[in-house]
Amino acid sequence: MLEFSNSRNGKEKIGTGQREDWNERNGLPEPHLRARRRTARLTMLVVDNIQLAFGGLKALSGVSVHANAGKITSVIGPNGAGKTSLFNVISGFYKPQHGRLTLDGEDISGLKPSQRAYRGMSRTFQNIALFHGMSVLDNIKLGAHTKLRTGVLSAAFRLPLTRREETQLSSEIQRDIIGLLELDHVQHHPVEDLAYGLQKRVELARALVMKPKLLLLDEPVAGMNREEKREMSRFVANVRNNWNTTVLLIEHDMGMVMEISDHIVVLSFGKPIASGTPDEVRVNPDVIKAYLGTSEEPSSTKATAA
Ligand SMILES: Nc1ncnc2c1ncn2[C@@H]1O[C@H](COP(=O)(O)OP(=O)(O)OP(=O)(O)O)[C@@H](O)[C@H]1O
Ligand SMILES: [Mg+2]
Repeated sequence: MLEFSNSRNGKEKIGTGQREDWNERNGLPEPHLRARRRTARLTMLVVDNIQLAFGGLKALSGVSVHANAGKITSVIGPNGAGKTSLFNVISGFYKPQHGRLTLDGEDISGLKPSQRAYRGMSRTFQNIALFHGMSVLDNIKLGAHTKLRTGVLSAAFRLPLTRREETQLSSEIQRDIIGLLELDHVQHHPVEDLAYGLQKRVELARALVMKPKLLLLDEPVAGMNREEKREMSRFVANVRNNWNTTVLLIEHDMGMVMEISDHIVVLSFGKPIASGTPDEVRVNPDVIKAYLGTSEEPSSTKATAA
């Protein structure tokens, strides 16, 4: 069996029973959450039989994934397995040669990335993409570019509507997100002054501004130290627990994956080779072979979260 370590203790998790208390303390928008819970479908995202090739290279073949509403579904696999390509297909950056996508019951296969974002899809990227010279709060605000009614011209001239919208946006972010992700103490700091783990948290905050139904996280704890990983896992779990957000997670850190996932899909060389609960996947012989068959030290199978 692969040594997928998971030594975090259960005390850190925020369970369903604690949600109401938590929401009250953090002033989260309960009516908004109740509406989402009422309307959410069982399956938030259906990825059906995706084929994606770059010239002769088949990056994805016959990949199907179901992300159930309010659950954390992880996509794992060795380097080059096609995980980020799959996210690019889901968010609309790559157009697959074949396959279909539905989000909350709606066929989104033909929609542009911005249209998908507008329908409630949001993502973070494998590499940090923040704007230096801007504060944490301003970086987070950029996540709302599809929300502001103001056009580019009025924004450039800072007309009153822009200022009003911005003030309102700042208050919403401070009320709903800054507290949730514990960024209060750094919200006015230049983003480049922050430690790496905090910068990744700012990216998560920016992805949450539109209150997404579906959140795509591409390696949110890559490069973090143990403490930063532990914190990020807790924040991702909190977002799901408190906002009922559906999460699709790519991660090499098996400690995190095994702890917070409800369901796991495994890709190898662009093909799905296994899926199931963490307990099912960790003993699956095909998964073990895919990881141990890599030529280099399989960092993705190492016990990284202690
Ligand atoms: N735009 C592109 N053009 C050509 N080939 C690409 C492109 N994007 C991805 N690929 C190739 O597709 C394959 C899958 O890459 P992808 O980045 O999706 O893997 P991954 O599972 O995310 O890997 P990692 O764990 O290292 O991030 C690789 O062989 C990669 O080189
Ligand atoms: Mg990748």
